[in-house]
Order: sequence, then structure tokens, then C-alpha cells
Amino acid sequence: MHGRGTGTPLLQLICLDLSSWPGYGRYVGPFPKFLYHQTKLESIDLSNSNITGMTTMLVTNNITHLNSLSLSNCSLSGHFRIPIHQEYHPHENLKTLDVSTNDFSPSPILPDICAFFPNIGHISLSDNKFYGEIPPQLSNCSPFEILDVSNNQLSGEIPRWIWNMSTGSIQDLSQNKFSGHLPPGFISPLMHEVYLSRNQLEGTLPATLSDKYSIGVLDLSHNHLMGTIPKWIGGLRQLSYIFLNDNQFHGDLPYTFCLETSKLIDVSHNHLSGHISYEIFTSNGTNCNGRNAYDNPQRDMEFVTKTKTYTYHGWPLYYMNGLDFSSNNFTGEIPPQIGHLGNTKVLNFSYNMFTGPIPLTIANLSQIESLDLSHNNLGGVIPSQITELHSLSTFSVAYNNLSRKCPQKVAQFSTFDEDIFEGNPLLNCTLPFMTPNTLVRPTPYIGDEEGEGGFIDMESFYVSGSVSYVMVLLVIASVLHINPYWRRVWFYCIDVTITTCYYFVVDHLPVPTKYKVWEPRF
Ligand SMILES: *[C@@H]1O[C@H](CO)[C@@H](O)[C@H](O)[C@H]1NC(C)=O
Ligand SMILES: *[C@@H]1O[C@H](CO)[C@@H](O)[C@H](O)[C@H]1NC(C)=O
Ligand SMILES: *[C@@H]1O[C@H](CO)[C@@H](O)[C@H](O)[C@H]1NC(C)=O
Ligand SMILES: *[C@@H]1O[C@H](CO)[C@@H](O)[C@H](O)[C@H]1NC(C)=O
Ligand SMILES: *[C@@H]1O[C@H](CO)[C@@H](O)[C@H](O)[C@H]1NC(C)=O
Ligand SMILES: *[C@@H]1O[C@H](CO)[C@@H](O)[C@H](O)[C@H]1NC(C)=O
Ligand SMILES: *[C@@H]1O[C@H](CO)[C@@H](O)[C@H](O)[C@H]1NC(C)=O
Ligand SMILES: *[C@@H]1O[C@H](CO)[C@@H](O)[C@H](O)[C@H]1NC(C)=O
Ligand SMILES: *[C@@H]1O[C@H](CO)[C@@H](O)[C@H](O)[C@H]1NC(C)=O
Ligand SMILES: *[C@@H]1O[C@H](CO)[C@@H](O)[C@H](O)[C@H]1NC(C)=O
Repeated sequence: MHGRGTGTPLLQLICLDLSSWPGYGRYVGPFPKFLYHQTKLESIDLSNSNITGMTTMLVTNNITHLNSLSLSNCSLSGHFRIPIHQEYHPHENLKTLDVSTNDFSPSPILPDICAFFPNIGHISLSDNKFYGEIPPQLSNCSPFEILDVSNNQLSGEIPRWIWNMSTGSIQDLSQNKFSGHLPPGFISPLMHEVYLSRNQLEGTLPATLSDKYSIGVLDLSHNHLMGTIPKWIGGLRQLSYIFLNDNQFHGDLPYTFCLETSKLIDVSHNHLSGHISYEIFTSNGTNCNGRNAYDNPQRDMEFVTKTKTYTYHGWPLYYMNGLDFSSNNFTGEIPPQIGHLGNTKVLNFSYNMFTGPIPLTIANLSQIESLDLSHNNLGGVIPSQITELHSLSTFSVAYNNLSRKCPQKVAQFSTFDEDIFEGNPLLNCTLPFMTPNTLVRPTPYIGDEEGEGGFIDMESFYVSGSVSYVMVLLVIASVLHINPYWRRVWFYCIDVTITTCYYFVVDHLPVPTKYKVWEPRF
């Protein structure tokens, strides 16, 4: 074959995916040669691979159809640059570029990135070492659907134009060194998720924002923001994940929140004060009119549960409802309307100045797993109904002014240490002798940390132990019954074990001399 068309194979790939799941092995090696002649490629995904010579491919290749290029976690090193070639034509069709998590040398973000990718809508540069300001030339890009520059060393003020650039979805500028104030229009009408945590932002939040906005996630945590929390934050129709923790906000928590449709709210570690309005708990109020929860956050979320910081991602967030008001200066009573939060899994009111009784309605929080009321000035008795909270696995009322009796050591409460009650001088935890039939069977609590749990009822321990033993046997039996492959493996293993044991015994047991005479000798 001669002449025209040499080197242009007839087989033209549209889509190339050499990616792998992290931890499941990766493609290592040079870029496959035949791909240099693939000019029709629309989508390339090489994430989590280790491929050399990729950038050359982008230079020499004329893949003008390319729509999506994912080079995340590809061990790319050197400077991140877009190959410039005399005959290079801009990738007009490229919409998605992901170069997150690579080993590029520290450098500023390329100013002319949009000259090459004029229609880019999703750009991810996260988890690299980019430094400097966001180049102003980026304002000439087409509006971003997703802009992710998180976890770099970027600094300077967040440019004003960026808010006009975002047509929606996700803007993640978290974990950088951005400073300065947030401009008035810092959330655009179409944005869904805004992450600005762990920067050095300061100043106050804008006083107004239209409640028509569709934002669902707002993370401003770990900055130096101050002033009061504006009313609009509570009032946004779909805003269900709100992280304002670890700032210097003061004043009241606005009454505009609707906790019933919210998912995670963290205002801990601020200087908030005043009473908590009962209105935020009632779905009955006007607060919750037309509200719906935002249901598909795309980024990791941190939340303190059971005294530990957990990172939530994906579907577990769907089941996660929590409120963290801890480490502020809130006063007044905990409103009884708190009983409306029947779906809440985590409540942390600790390190405040709450007074008054623990509301009886707290027994209505049937889903609660972590409840911390410690370090306040709560008085009165601990409602005995609290032992009906069967999901509870972390609880504390330490350092309050509670009096009279501790709850009975039944159900979950038989697994807690005494220190959850300490620091209440008027509280008497010495319980009268209980006859065995007044004991309610504790639900065995499977703790996620060692050393937890007080006494476990030994009887139920043995019962559940035997039950699980039988269950394991049954499962093995049914697996063997159903699956011929595992049956073969199982019996092979048993065979090998028996043989090994047999020869071990034969080789090591001291054979009585009496039988030794029968050993054949050659
Ligand atoms: C990057 O790839 C390596 C090797 O496959 C893997 O161990 C690591 O978890 C990946 N990192 C991320 C952030 O996915
Ligand atoms: C990537 O592959 C090269 C060899 O092709 C090797 O030297 C390098 O250590 C690999 N990097 C990682 C992070 O696996
Ligand atoms: C790339 O394609 C353009 C036309 O689309 C053509 O003019 C140019 O010569 C090609 N370049 C290479 C290196 O194939
Ligand atoms: C951003 O948009 C608003 C109105 O949508 C406009 O008034 C303002 O000039 C724009 N700002 C920039 C920097 O483009
Ligand atoms: C609470 O208020 C007291 C005095 O009013 C102040 O000393 C303390 O720092 C405040 N605590 C917080 C967390 O703001
Ligand atoms: C809900 O509000 C209505 C009137 O707004 C009132 O009649 C009713 O008692 C309230 N229900 C609860 C449970 O607060
Ligand atoms: C409640 O918050 C405090 C401080 O913010 C923290 O130390 C504590 O561990 C949290 N409690 C639970 C049960 O997570
Ligand atoms: C208890 O929870 C249910 C459902 O979550 C709610 O309808 C009811 O009003 C709550 N009761 C109290 C006293 O808060
Ligand atoms: C604690 O509660 C008792 C009544 O039970 C009350 O007399 C006392 O003043 C309270 N102490 C504080 C510090 O509030
Ligand atoms: C605590 O309660 C127990 C049993 O109800 C009782 O025997 C004991 O005297 C009480 N202790 C104090 C200091 O009140």
C-alpha cells in the first residue's frame, strides 16, 4: 500500500478508556503507538493510569473532535502546559478537562487555557500545586459548569468576574489561600454547589440574596468570616448543606432556617449567641413553604459525628441529617419543637450556655445516633424516656446542672460509660438494686471504637454469639450448595488441610518404638 492514507488506519476509535479504580492496579507504560493515528477520538479517560508520552500525543495528533479528556491521577509531571504546535488548532469541542491529582511542578494556572479550549465547561485542576492568582484571562472563557481548583496554593482575592462566569453546578475553590472579601453577588442564580472552605476569606457576608436562587450546598467553613449570619442563608429554597463552622460569626442564628428540609448544618466554633428560635424546627411555619432538600452533592463533606470528624461522600449523604451548634454562646432553652427532627442522626449542642430542662420531646428523635448536650447549664431531670432512643450510640450530658436520678442502665444506656454524666453535682447515678426481670434486654451495640461500652449482658452475648455461629455455618453451607466453583474450592481446601495435618502428624509425632520395627527399610 502506497501513497495517500499511509498511517491512517481505517479503524478509528471514538472513545478510549484506560482508566482504573484507585487501588485496582493501573495501566503503566508508554502511550500505545497506534493511537497516534486516531483522529476521531471524542473521549479519552486515562485516569489512575501511569502513561508516558501523552502530551506528545496531544501535540502531534489532530483530535479536533475531542470532547472530554480525563488525566486525573496519571502521575503527570513537569510543567502543566498545553502543547503548542504550529498547526495546532484549538480544541473547539473540548468541554471537559480533568488534570486533578498529578505531580506537576508548582506553577501558575495557564492564562491561555481558554484560547485552546474556547468552549470548556468543566475544568478540574484540583489536588495539584498551582499557585498565584486565578488569571484574569479566564474571564474570556465560556461560562463554567464546573470549576474545581480545590487543594492548590492559589491566592489573592477571588476575582469578581468568576461569579458571572458560573452558569451552574459546582464551584470548588476550597483549600487554597484565597483572601479578601466575598463580593455581593458571590452566588450566581444558577449555581448549585459552592465550596470555599479552608481559605483565608474575611469580612462579612453580603446582606441580601434573592431567595429564588437554587443553591444546594454552601461551604464557607474554616475561614475568617465575621459579622452576623444573614437571613437569606436560612431562607434559600433548596439550600440544605450549610457549613459556616470555624469562623467568627456573631449574633443570632436567623429564624429563617427550616431544619426539616435541611441535611447538614454546621455553625459550630463561632461566637453566635442568643436564643435558638423554635420556628426553625417547625415544618408548620412559613419557613418550610416550597422547600425541598438538595439531594445530590458531588463533593466530600466533613461532619463531626460521635466525637470524630467523618468525611461523607455520595449515597451515605442521603441518609445523613445532622445539626452542629456546638462551641458558641447560645443561651435560653432548647425548644421542645426539637422533637420534630425525627430524621436527625446527629445533634451537637455542647459548649454553649443553654439553660432550662432537657425537653421531653427529645424522646421523639428516633433516628438519633449521636446526641451531645454537654458543657451547658441545663437543669432539671434527665427525661427517663431518653432510654427509648434505640439508635443512640454516643451520648453526653456532662457538665451541666442536672439533678436527681440518672436514666436506668437499660438498652443503649447499659453500654455507656459513667463519664457521660460527670460534672453534674446534683445528679445521683447510684441506682437502686434492680431485679433481673426489670432489666430490659440491651440491643447489642456494635461500637466503632475500642474501649467503648460499659457492661454487656453476658447472657445476650452468648445467645447472639451462638446465633451468629449458626448463621455463619448456614451461609457457608448454602454458598457451597449453590455455587459449584466454591464447593470445589472448599473441598479442595479441606482436602489440603487434612493432608497437611496428616503428614504433619506422621512426620512429627514420636512414633512408639514398638511400631518402628514395621517400618520398611531399604
Ligand atoms: C491514584 O492512583 C494510585 C495508584 O493506582 C492510587 O493508589 C491512589 O489511591 C489514587 N489516588 C486518588 C486520589 O485516586
Ligand atoms: C510510572 O511509571 C514509570 C515507568 O513507566 C515509573 O518510573 C514511575 O515510578 C511510575 N510512577 C508511579 C507513581 O507509579
Ligand atoms: C489538522 O487538521 C487540519 C484541518 O482540520 C489540517 O489543516 C492540519 O494539517 C492537520 N494537522 C495535522 C498535524 O495533521
Ligand atoms: C456580572 O453580571 C452583572 C449582572 O448580571 C453585571 O451587572 C456585572 O457588570 C457583571 N460583572 C462583570 C465583572 O462582568
Ligand atoms: C462567650 O461569651 C463570653 C463572655 O460573654 C466570652 O468570654 C467567650 O469568649 C464567648 N465564647 C465564644 C465561643 O464566643
Ligand atoms: C400548625 O399551624 C396551624 C396554624 O398555622 C395551627 O392551627 C396548628 O396547631 C399548628 N400545628 C402544630 C403542630 O404546631
Ligand atoms: C460536639 O462538639 C464538640 C466541640 O465542637 C466536640 O468536641 C464533640 O466531640 C462533639 N460531640 C460529639 C458527640 O460528636
Ligand atoms: C414526633 O415526630 C413526628 C415525626 O417525625 C412528628 O410528626 C411529631 O409531631 C413529633 N412529635 C413531637 C412532640 O415533636
Ligand atoms: C443548679 O440547679 C439548682 C436547682 O436544681 C439551682 O438552685 C442552682 O442555682 C443551679 N446552679 C446554677 C449554676 O445554675
Ligand atoms: C442515690 O440514690 C440511691 C438509690 O436511689 C440511694 O440509695 C442513695 O442514698 C442516693 N445517694 C445520694 C447521695 O443521694
